[in-house]
Amino acid sequence: MRQPMSKDRNSRLLFCAVFSLLGGNIGCSEAESRSEGPTYCEDVRPIVEEKCVRCHAETPKNGAPFSLTTYADFQQPHPVAAELEVGELAISAIESGRMPATSVDLDPKVEPLTKEEKKILLEWLDAKRERGDCSE
Ligand code: HEC
Repeated sequence: MRQPMSKDRNSRLLFCAVFSLLGGNIGCSEAESRSEGPTYCEDVRPIVEEKCVRCHAETPKNGAPFSLTTYADFQQPHPVAAELEVGELAISAIESGRMPATSVDLDPKVEPLTKEEKKILLEWLDAKRERGDCSE
């Protein structure tokens, strides 16, 4: 199944490339170019490691209720409110600025997410949450 699909995608991309070279705009949006958005391995993990894992460590600390050290952690139900998924919760936590938590007094102190980091995390959480390749 994978092979025909990617072939199909490749021919569409080629089609888009040729037409944009000719100056045509046939709705080949940016989203259709090579990468479909941020991936966990390439874009998300480095931010989470820097801004979340101090508390959401493999063994969570500083009061954090779960760990955020793997791709799968984002797809888990919340340990207490099991009807809520961690990734869904993370959207509102990041949008509202609730996370990373500044209520805990750490040294060095917890840095908030930059605008760019927020954008990447939210884009990833809100869409297909592609994994990417962590082996590189
Ligand atoms: C300084 C420690 C600390 C850091 C850093 C931190 N968290 Fe948290 N997190 C907590 C604590 C404590 C709780 C539980 C209390 C609460 O909900 O405020 C929590 C709860 C959460 C929750 C569930 C409850 C809610 O508020 O929605 C999510 C989702 C979450 N964190 C995501 C993140 C993400 C994503 C990051 C990184 C961008 C992050 N956290 C960074 C300490 C932290």
